[in-house]
Amino acid sequence: MAIDIEHLPPRVRTRTFIDRYSAFARVNHWITAITFSLLALSGLALFHPSLYFLTGLFGGGAVTRAVHPWLGVILLISFAGMFLQFWRYNLWNRDDTQWMSQIGDVVKGDEEKLPELDKYNAGQKGVFWGQALMILVLFCTGLVIWDQYFGGYVSIETNRLAALIHAVMAFFAIMLIIVHVYAGIWVRGSVASMTRGRVTGGWAWRHHRKWLRREAGTKHAHRE
Ligand code: HEM
Repeated sequence: MAIDIEHLPPRVRTRTFIDRYSAFARVNHWITAITFSLLALSGLALFHPSLYFLTGLFGGGAVTRAVHPWLGVILLISFAGMFLQFWRYNLWNRDDTQWMSQIGDVVKGDEEKLPELDKYNAGQKGVFWGQALMILVLFCTGLVIWDQYFGGYVSIETNRLAALIHAVMAFFAIMLIIVHVYAGIWVRGSVASMTRGRVTGGWAWRHHRKWLRREAGTKHAHRE
């Protein structure tokens, strides 16, 4: 029988919560998100004259040029922290291939037709591996064009090629993050996992049932 908990007195309105992210993982995620945003803004400011006004956010053109690569170093370290914590949950399996083949049901929200999922769905895994690869390429090409320290080590042609790859990767990385942020907001209850560290039992049952089944009965599930 379905119970409408909204009509129950607050004392009785208990919910089951499942821990999803430790405080460390959340701080790590938000440092990554802030660094990524600052990188995108400073990178766009240096990319095209029409966006030069964005250098105002960093204290002028010279400061933006100096700060941007260091933000890249911070992003690499911060994302590496997330990579080490999450890579094993992002390994591809048969459920992911099935989930992708039913992308129409995903968009319609017909989740009962989809396979039960572990901690992440195929879309989230795509964002994870996509960002891992792109951040690495951005970092390596960024070093090549970091003239202050590495200028003169490569030919002008190599330098130009690295700048081109850097810009193309940055474009795709920004697009992918827009998808990530949109998906996080679109699936109600997800943002709370990255702010408060926990999700409701209903959220886990609906979106990540295999993960819930594993977590149920462990110290990660509690009632409030
Ligand atoms: C304002 C910006 C952002 C918002 C609102 C946001 C939101 C979220 C949310 C809600 C989750 C939890 C999803 C879940 O547990 O099901 C998450 C996970 C995650 N986020 Fe973000 N995020 C942002 C920026 C970023 C950036 C810039 C990166 C990396 C460059 C990033 C990488 C990740 C990763 C790796 C995960 C774990 C999912 C996985 O490993 O597949 N996020 N994010």
